[in-house]
Amino acid sequence: MTGNALDADTADSSGPHGIESHDYDVIVMGAGGAGLRAAIAAHDAGARVAVVCKSLLGKAHTVMAEGGIAASLGNLWPQDNWQVHFRDTMRGGKMLNNWRMAQLHAQEAPERVLELEEWGALFDRTDEGLISQRDFGGHRYARLAHVGDRTGLEMIRTLQQRAVHLGIDVFMECTVTELFKDGDRIAGAFAYWRETGRFLVLNAPAVVLATGGIGKSYQITSNSWEYTGDGHALALRAGATLINMEFVQFHPTGMVWPPSVRGLLVTESVRGDGGILRNSDGKRFMFDYVPEYFKAETADTEQEADGWYEDKVNNRRPPELLPRDEVARAINSEIKAGRGSPHGGVFLDIASRRSPEFIKRRLPSMYHQFKELADVDITAEPMEIGPTCHYVMGGVEVDADTGASLVEGLYAAGEVAGGMHGSNRLGGNSLSDLLVFGRRAGLNAAYYAERTKVRAPRVSDETISAAAERALAPFSATGGENPYTVQKDLQDVMQRLVGIIRTADELTESLGDLERLKARAKNLSVEGNRQYNPGWHLSIDLANMLTVSECIAKAALERRESRGGHTRDDFPGPDPYWGQLNIVLSLTDDDTIESKRQPLPVMPEELQALFEEN
Ligand code: FUM
Repeated sequence: MTGNALDADTADSSGPHGIESHDYDVIVMGAGGAGLRAAIAAHDAGARVAVVCKSLLGKAHTVMAEGGIAASLGNLWPQDNWQVHFRDTMRGGKMLNNWRMAQLHAQEAPERVLELEEWGALFDRTDEGLISQRDFGGHRYARLAHVGDRTGLEMIRTLQQRAVHLGIDVFMECTVTELFKDGDRIAGAFAYWRETGRFLVLNAPAVVLATGGIGKSYQITSNSWEYTGDGHALALRAGATLINMEFVQFHPTGMVWPPSVRGLLVTESVRGDGGILRNSDGKRFMFDYVPEYFKAETADTEQEADGWYEDKVNNRRPPELLPRDEVARAINSEIKAGRGSPHGGVFLDIASRRSPEFIKRRLPSMYHQFKELADVDITAEPMEIGPTCHYVMGGVEVDADTGASLVEGLYAAGEVAGGMHGSNRLGGNSLSDLLVFGRRAGLNAAYYAERTKVRAPRVSDETISAAAERALAPFSATGGENPYTVQKDLQDVMQRLVGIIRTADELTESLGDLERLKARAKNLSVEGNRQYNPGWHLSIDLANMLTVSECIAKAALERRESRGGHTRDDFPGPDPYWGQLNIVLSLTDDDTIESKRQPLPVMPEELQALFEEN
C-alpha cells in the first residue's frame, strides 16, 4: 500500500486514546536511498515494515546526488579496487572517518551497484557495454557509475519501484514528532498526517532513521524544505549520541542567480566532465589553491599551462577536481577578494571546453536547469555559481557493521548517520553509502525485531496523550512569534556565523543567538486549524533545526583546528591532536547539549599499511 495509509490492515483505531495506530516490526523514517534500501532489506529478512516519509514518495535529497555512485567496478581503470577507494575516502575525510565504515563501504559498493542494475537501473555504458564511470574530486580513478546527470533520480526510481512491488507500506506526507521508548528500548513513533493534521501511533520495536540532513538551517542550501535535521534531533532526545557535527559540506557549485533558485545544485559532473572555474578577471584561479601536500615534488607551472597539475601519485589532475572543501574555500576567497561574478559567485565554464552535443548528452539536466531557470545557455556561455550548504558529515553515532545506535532498537543510515565520511565527503560516496548502510541497518533492525518478539515493547496511553499535547501546543499560545520569522533569523545566524569560515568569537556569538532563538521558539503561535497547516508543521520542525544548529555550533567551537568541512580562521590548518579525536554530543537530563572528546577507533595494521603505498 502506498500513499495514504489510513486503510492499512495493521490499523487499529479503537485504542483508548482514540488515535489511529499500527503495529510493525520495523519502522523506517525517510524514503530516500537509505530508507528505501533499509525497508527492502528488512522486508527481505521477513519483517513487517513500513516507510514513513514527510514528503511525497520519491522526493528526496538523494536526487541531488546527480553525478554518480562511487564504486570500484574497475570498468575504465582495471587497477581500481576497494583498497584504493577506501584510501581515497579516508584521505578525503582527512583520516577522521570511522575506518570500519569506510572499509565496508568500499568493499560492498560494487555489489550494491550491480544489484541496483539487476533491479532495473539503466546506467550509461562504455563502448564495450560496461557501466560507464566518471571522474569526480578526490577519487584517484574515474569510478562514478552514472545516468547522465540524473543518477540519484534513477536510483530512487529503481528502489521505489522495488519497494512498491514488494508491497511495503508507505505512510506518505506523514511527519514523526517523537520516538517512543519502553524503558531503555525503542517502542515506536508518534506522527501526524500533514494533510489532515490527524495523529497516528506506530508501534514497533525497531526504528531505522534515514531522514537525511540539516541543510534548511542555512540560508543558501541545495536541500529542500524537508531537511530540518529531524532524525538527528529525535535520536539525541531518545538518548543516542551524535558525532562529527562540526563538519558541514558546502558544495562548491550552487546556482547564485536568480534569487529564487539560489543554492540549487550544479553537479560536480560539470567539472568532472571538463568544466573549469574562472574569476572576474577571466583567470583560472584554482591553480593558486592546490595545497602543496597534494602536489608531486616535480610539479611545475608549465604543466599548469596545459590545464593540469601532477598529484602525489603522478596522476594528471585538473585543480577543479580537488576535494570539495578545498574548492569551496577557494571560491569563497575569490569572492571575498572582490574577484567574483556580478551576482556574487564565480564563473563555471564548460562551453569553451566541450562541444554543445557533448554537454547536452552528458549534462542534460544542467542544460535545462540553466536554460529554464536562469536563461543561460551553458553550451555557449559560463554559469555563475557559488558554494551551497549540501551535506552534513555528522550524525548519529552507530555501530559500523549493524547501524545500531546506543539506544536499543534505534538504527540510522545514510546522511543522518555519522562517521563514514569523517571531516569531508567525496562526491559520489553518498549514493553508495545509502545503499551499503541502508541495507545493513534494515537487515539488523529486522533481526533485532525478531529477537524482541518474546517481550514486545509497550507505550502507555499517558505517553501518547502527552505527545499529542506537545504537538498541539502552538495552537494554544496567543500573541506568540511567527515560526517563519524565527526560521529566517536562524538561517541568518547559521549562514553568517557558522558558515564556511569560522572563528571562536563568531561561534560564541552564534550560541548566544541560538539561546535567544530557542526562547522565542518556545513561544510560537499558529493560526488556523490542523488541516494542511504549513505554519504548524514548521513550528514542529523548528525545534529540530534549533537542536542540530546548536550541535553544529558547539562542536565547531570545541574543535580548535581546521579540517575538511570545518575551517577555523583562528586555527588554520589541521592539528595532530584533534586528528585523533571525535567530538561526541549527548543530551543531559536538563536538556543541555554536552560535548566530550572521544579517541578514534584504532585502524588495524593491514589497513594502515595501505597508506604507506601510493
Ligand atoms: O555534484 C553532485 O552531483 C553531487 C553528488 C554528491 O553529493 O554525491
